Amino acid sequence: MMPDPIQTALERLEILGRISDDPSRLVRTFLSPANRVAAETVGAWMEAAGMETSHAADGTIRGILPGTDPTAKPLLLGSHLDTVIDAGKYDGALGIIAALAAIESLPEPPAHPIHLLGFSDEEGVRFHTTYLGSRSVTGPLDAETLATPDASGRSIAEAIEKEGWHEGATTIHYEPRSTCGYVELHIEQGRVLEEAGEPACVVSAISGQARVTVSLDGLADHAGTTPMPLRRDALGGAAACILEAEAIACADPPLVITVGSISIHPGASNCIPGSARFTIDLRHPGDERRLHHLTALEEKFAAIATERGLGFHWKLVQDDPSAPCDPALTDALLEALESVSGSRRSMPSGAGHDAVALSKLGPIAMLFLRCREGLSHHPDEFASPEDIATGIHILTRFLARL
Ligand code: GLV
Ligand code: MN
Ligand code: MN
Repeated sequence: MMPDPIQTALERLEILGRISDDPSRLVRTFLSPANRVAAETVGAWMEAAGMETSHAADGTIRGILPGTDPTAKPLLLGSHLDTVIDAGKYDGALGIIAALAAIESLPEPPAHPIHLLGFSDEEGVRFHTTYLGSRSVTGPLDAETLATPDASGRSIAEAIEKEGWHEGATTIHYEPRSTCGYVELHIEQGRVLEEAGEPACVVSAISGQARVTVSLDGLADHAGTTPMPLRRDALGGAAACILEAEAIACADPPLVITVGSISIHPGASNCIPGSARFTIDLRHPGDERRLHHLTALEEKFAAIATERGLGFHWKLVQDDPSAPCDPALTDALLEALESVSGSRRSMPSGAGHDAVALSKLGPIAMLFLRCREGLSHHPDEFASPEDIATGIHILTRFLARL
């Protein structure tokens, strides 16, 4: 008897959820050993499904299912293999596994070739710059991006050269308009579907997001002998900046600003912090508001630094405008959604997705699945087997009618 693709998908999610760089929690980052094992594992599953596989040196894996129409452009499906630190097992992995199950469920070979992509980086954990895997299939990363350092000072270019999956690697690249689009299934990572009592919906657009690295430089000095008015405490300045960012975001919903990482030097209890470096992640569905707040935040931080006698450096690492989903491709997904779940719900996404990078090539569409309490980027992230089955049915119907 043929294995049931949905049961197989659920088992595969568990397997991927155990492939981690850290035995005590789920973490797979760009070019890490676990990310490579995850790509190899997915590649073997793609081959078992009759796909021809290839991989890029940065660890992105691709499976190709040929179409019956030799003139048809390929349809791209996919999501990311990498995770945040102490992640749940659904963010990213589910999109790849569900797409594979939908391919395995097709009653007959598709007219269009289907290319399934497992991207090496969407989260941007290691280099604080997102979509490295998905951006790379739209063209080479630019020199400035390739020079971005990780916490140890190693650049992206150097990391790919020294840590990449070079054996048998090929360039995975698509020209604009060379595909008929990109479709991604992902957990919602919010509570709208749970509150509506619906398993799935389509996405109308993905919010724009900017990522910035901020450095403040003061003077490391003796904690016992330096009077308070004479200090140039970089961490004190960072704290003032962080609270300012929070106040700005609270005053203009749906703006969201997050400081998710901070490091200080020298980092000893009896030393005044001489330098502080922290990240900013700023998102808004409106491009004009995003840019307005980005400028306002830089001005506020500069003023705080001046007031406290601190050196200030602001580096914009990434700035993506919001990405609208394509009406025609989304309509086809909506038809499949309605026929399986009876709903025609659509919502914007506050989370970033590989679809943003792929929008450079052509139309994009996304399907969201309900997740428990909207929780994500957390080990308790959960989507029910029933909802996953619904998502696979929707994708299968979408592919079968393409
Ligand atoms: C990806 O999960 C992001 O939106 O940060
Ligand atoms: Mn994701
Ligand atoms: Mn994520």
